[in-house]
Amino acid sequence: MSNKITAAITAVGGYVPEDKLTNFDLEKIVETNDEWIRTRTGVEERRILKGAGMATSDMVVPAVRQLCEKRGIQPEEIDCLIVGTVTPDHVFPATANIACDKLGAKNAWGFDLSAACSGFLYSLTIGASLIESGRYKKVVVCGADKMSAIIDYTDRATCIIFGDGAGAVLLEPNEEGLGIQDSILKSDGSGCQFLHMKAGGSKQPATTESVLAKEHFVYQEGQAVFKFAVKGMADVSAELLERNNLTGDDISWLVPHQANLRIIDATANRMGLPKEKVMINIQRYGNTTAGTLPLCLWDWESKLKKGDNIVLAAFGGGFTWGATLVKWAYTASDVSKSV
Ligand code: UT7
Repeated sequence: MSNKITAAITAVGGYVPEDKLTNFDLEKIVETNDEWIRTRTGVEERRILKGAGMATSDMVVPAVRQLCEKRGIQPEEIDCLIVGTVTPDHVFPATANIACDKLGAKNAWGFDLSAACSGFLYSLTIGASLIESGRYKKVVVCGADKMSAIIDYTDRATCIIFGDGAGAVLLEPNEEGLGIQDSILKSDGSGCQFLHMKAGGSKQPATTESVLAKEHFVYQEGQAVFKFAVKGMADVSAELLERNNLTGDDISWLVPHQANLRIIDATANRMGLPKEKVMINIQRYGNTTAGTLPLCLWDWESKLKKGDNIVLAAFGGGFTWGATLVKWAYTASDVSKSV
């Protein structure tokens, strides 16, 4: 027992749109094939948020609502909502503000955090600090992206990877030492050149020319990003284990960013983890950017047990990357009693 307040994840919610875009659908749109996509990335299908005016907040809201229902709390009880996203509803105001309004979370403040595929990991660290400070009791951390809004569906190098989705976790104070234990976060702005959106920001506001030049879509130099991602995610995960005196044997689950199955395999190998301990759902959702990590927790929640050591690891645009060690705080079949 420790008296220090830690930030425990006490509930998980998720939302993926109903509409599926399969590899076979993509074969009809661009010059590609199911076999190439599966073997080079691991993706089989992704979800796409359709409907005029549908935005990232429309995925955040059902994910957070589900989390509240699972924990038996009302949205009014949420103190703060952090949304990791690079596809906000608007440049401003923040998607978190819009989502709080739609949820009826009228006592919450909130903000968006831009760290691309590391958005959830960065947000989780900030959310944990708010709880650890003793000032807040219920912080919701969400990773959500409507990647289909910024993908060029004539570019076979990017449209095959990305999908839409949102996941959310509730953080609450814990006095048993469970929850977020440690986290190593990194950033290197020189990586911008390899993965970014050229226009739509203050550097290149939208013009007719920028639209015609397709500069409002994801630009990615895949091979370069791949190399940095393999090294970045594996290095930081290994460093996290080492500084906590842990080996792969002590870890129950690796929760890796779902960008490419080959990057996930490399990270697991480096940590000495067998495939059975790795959460992989890239085949069903593709790369949902900030959504991948909480969507893994959402899918695997029923298998997680109180006390499990879990490592979350991500790499993304920026470059941004990192790894977080979590001691899981509840056994799903006993949500309200065990925390
Ligand atoms: O989540 C944010 C961080 N992002 C990442 O971590 C993504 C990291 N990068 C990757 O996952 C991979 O680089 C990609 C999946 C994007 C691409 O895979 P790759 O194995 O690096 O392929 P490549 O770009 O080296 O292309 C190999 C070949 C090329 O043909 P040639 O030049 O060898 O004839 C491409 O034109 O595959 C071709 N190709 C495709 N063929 C069929 C590229 N995309 C496709 C495609 N279908 N969709």
